[in-house]
Amino acid sequence: MKKICLLCLLFYAMETIAQNQISIIPQPQTINNRSGNFILSGKTKINIKSPGALKSASFFNSYMQKMYGLSIPSITAKTSLKSQEPEQMIVLGINKTLSTSKEAYSLDITPNTIKIEGADEAGVFYGIQSLIQLIPVEKNKANSFIIPCLQIFDAPRFAYRGMHLDVSRHFFPSSFIKKYIDFIAMHKMNRFHWHLTDDQGWRIEIKKYPKLTDIGAYRNGTTIGRYPGTGNTGTRYGGFYTQEEIKDIVKYASERYVEVIPEIELPGHASAAIAAYPELSCFPEESTKHPEKIAWSGSTTGKQVQQTWGVFEDVFAPTETTFTFLENVFNEVLPLFPSKYIHIGGDECPKESWKRSAFCQQLIKEKNLKDEHGLQSYFITRVEKYINGKGKQIIGWDEILEGGLAPNALVMSWRGEKGGIEAAKQKHQVIMTPGEWMYFDHKQKQKEDSVTIGGYTTVQKVYGYEPLPKQLSEEDAKYVLGAQANVWTEYITNTSKVEYMIFPRMSALSEVLWSSKEQRNWSQFEPRLQQAFKRYSFLGWNYSKAYFEETIK
Ligand code: ACM
Repeated sequence: MKKICLLCLLFYAMETIAQNQISIIPQPQTINNRSGNFILSGKTKINIKSPGALKSASFFNSYMQKMYGLSIPSITAKTSLKSQEPEQMIVLGINKTLSTSKEAYSLDITPNTIKIEGADEAGVFYGIQSLIQLIPVEKNKANSFIIPCLQIFDAPRFAYRGMHLDVSRHFFPSSFIKKYIDFIAMHKMNRFHWHLTDDQGWRIEIKKYPKLTDIGAYRNGTTIGRYPGTGNTGTRYGGFYTQEEIKDIVKYASERYVEVIPEIELPGHASAAIAAYPELSCFPEESTKHPEKIAWSGSTTGKQVQQTWGVFEDVFAPTETTFTFLENVFNEVLPLFPSKYIHIGGDECPKESWKRSAFCQQLIKEKNLKDEHGLQSYFITRVEKYINGKGKQIIGWDEILEGGLAPNALVMSWRGEKGGIEAAKQKHQVIMTPGEWMYFDHKQKQKEDSVTIGGYTTVQKVYGYEPLPKQLSEEDAKYVLGAQANVWTEYITNTSKVEYMIFPRMSALSEVLWSSKEQRNWSQFEPRLQQAFKRYSFLGWNYSKAYFEETIK
């Protein structure tokens, strides 16, 4: 009797271990537990059934080598026939009949085999990501790992699952951009919106306009502390990515099924470009203005890269000079990014300069535009036409609705959901990034450890976000492709703080975007989040502990 009880207990303990190990974020569509375990060890090999699974195999092998010092080499079906089939095999392949959903996968674990099938290449990669989360983070001497037998079928809810990063306010090296892409990929997210230009720095090499980076990529100082600040650092700050670095990053991203969408801001947020080429301004002779209360470093005459935060009046003039400049910039930018999208900004463009400019007023009359908002719409539509001519589609912040939407534009709704709702009703594609839920520059606890821009967005709040607004009919809701979190970096000065600001909120967002609405359940997410914290530490990712301090239970 005693023996039976002990056996029961052992069985129960093993079951509990297995259950605990099934902690995947985002939550898969279906998980069926099976009895038994697969032992992952140095004897395990990968059998690649389709060439499209190669990248995933290589990712997994690199991951296992880096994190566990374990090499999991690949063999092809042919060599496996010749040599003796190893017992512990991971089989990767593509099965187009698996699902009609793009990026779907199945993960089937039995004691001798882990079989991952993707409906496409990305599906295989996401199967690998789920497998990675089933491997315990605790290393052991034998370097072998118990993985519970189970069966998963999984597919994403939204096609667009994005993260944005502002590299203008603060600059982060290519190595970190790659790490950021890993964060995205390992959360089964698939878009990286790279905010490359703004008032405080132009960050992409343009060979035809070398001053964009010689001058525009550097500012003479930076506001210290929360705006208006306690002073100025007085040190030159900046940096940029060469086109070679960008190609390398885009390739790195594509190996992880992440599409990189660059943003070139226009017609506002253009101070850095104007500092390099003053003729792009309505008033080339006027010196750059900065708020009186701001401590400034270096020269105050001529055009300057901005040293503080906010919105600035000196914007692109809607002249032929500017349009030619922008077209030449796009001629270099577009070939670097295979994405069909390019983000052209369009937000926060003050109209003061256009109001003061005789040229702009004349243009408004000539083109029969209503006012300066009409001029903004003219500006965006003209840029859109050029970009559409190159076979690409523009994305703009929701201000591009003002004065009339450009015909093929996709709208990113950031000032709440209103712009997104309006655009979807006009049958335009939409990505939801409303500030209240999707701005990861907001603080995560009432009293943050360091300065943030404001706002208060807990991980639970992010988890509760629903990207499809009730106001949309089923038909119009189809225009909402997904959502994205934005990471503006005025007060995010280093890479460790970027990680602090995105984790754990990004894990919550990944589930909002991947898992079905019915599956989303905070109390079931919490234990998985606890496991995710362990995984962040294992991976060396910094994260906010605010959850432990003030989540409302
Ligand atoms: C924005 O936050 N200005 C898009």
